[in-house]
Amino acid sequence: MNIQEIQNRILDLKKQNDICILAHSYVAHEILEIADFTGDSYALSVKAKSAPQKTVLMVGVRFMAETVKILSPEKRVLLASGEAGCPMAEQMDKELIKAVKREYPDYTVVAYINTTAALKTICDVCVTSSSAVKIVSSIENPNILFIPDCNLGAYVRDQLPEKNIKLLQGGCPIHASVNEEEAIEAKKKHPGALLLVHPECKPEVVRHADYVGSTSGIMQFAEKSDCREFIIGTELSIAEHLQYACPDKRFYPLSKKLICQNMKLSTLVDVYDAVRGAGGAEIELDADTITKARRCIDAMIELGG
Ligand code: 13P
Ligand code: SF4
Repeated sequence: MNIQEIQNRILDLKKQNDICILAHSYVAHEILEIADFTGDSYALSVKAKSAPQKTVLMVGVRFMAETVKILSPEKRVLLASGEAGCPMAEQMDKELIKAVKREYPDYTVVAYINTTAALKTICDVCVTSSSAVKIVSSIENPNILFIPDCNLGAYVRDQLPEKNIKLLQGGCPIHASVNEEEAIEAKKKHPGALLLVHPECKPEVVRHADYVGSTSGIMQFAEKSDCREFIIGTELSIAEHLQYACPDKRFYPLSKKLICQNMKLSTLVDVYDAVRGAGGAEIELDADTITKARRCIDAMIELGG
C-alpha cells in the first residue's frame, strides 16, 4: 500500500469504528492529514473533552493520552505507540513533590501538563505552554511552586514579576539542548528572519526571540506574519509543517538537535493498526487517580479558556 491508500483505509476505519484521532503537531505530516484534530497540548485537551466518538486515538506521547482518559473516563483511549513517553513527564515523582510540598506548605502547586497522571493527583492546577502565564496570573496566591519545567517556569516568572515562583530543576531535554550561541549564530546566518521560540527553551535562548509561544502559537504567528523568513525554535517537524502551509515563506530550524524521538515513534502504520484493532496501547487509570488528577485539569480548562 502507498501512503494515500493507507490514509484512505484509516479514514474509512475510523468512521466505521467510531474513533476520533487526535494528533500533536510534532508528529508526521501524513498523520496530521488524517487526524480529526491537530494542535498543541492545550488544544488537544480541550478537544478531547468534547469529542463524541466512543474511542479516542492519541498520536503523541503518553501524558497526552492520560489527559484524554482523565477527562473522558468512559471512553476507550488508545496511544498509537505504547512506547511514546515524555522524558520530562517522568522526571519528578509523587514522593519528591510531596517532600517539597511539606517544605513549602503555603505554595500553590502548578504542574505543567507534561507530568504523569499520578503526579497530577497531588497538584493544584495544570498549565500548558500556551496557558501558563494566563493561569498563573489568575491564581490568588502569590506563592507558586512550578513543576517540572524550570525553563517554562522561568519564562512565566519573567512575565509575572509580582509572583513568587519557586522552580525545580526539570525540563524538556530536547528544547533545553539548544544554547545561546546557536540562537546568535542562526540570527547572523538569517538576518532577515524572525526567531520564534518555544518557552521550554533556556532563558538565554528565549531572550533572543522575536516571539515566544506554544507549538500552535508559533505556527499561527508565522502564518499570519508579513515577514517571509523564520527561524523555528521548537521541534523540527514544525518548520516542515509550516513549509507546507506557507510555501512562499522560508523556515529554518534553530538547531538540528530539536528532534523529539518519542514523538517520532508513531507512524502512519501504527495509526492504521490502531484503527483496525490490531495495535495501539490502551490507557488504563484507576478511578481514584482519575478523580484526583481531574481536579487540576478541570481547573486548567476553566482558568485557561
Ligand atoms: P505544546 O504542545 O504546549 O506547545 O508543548 C510542546 C511539547 O513539548 C509537547 O510535549
Ligand atoms: Fe516531552 Fe520535550 Fe518531547 Fe515535548 S518535545 S514530548 S516535552 S521530550
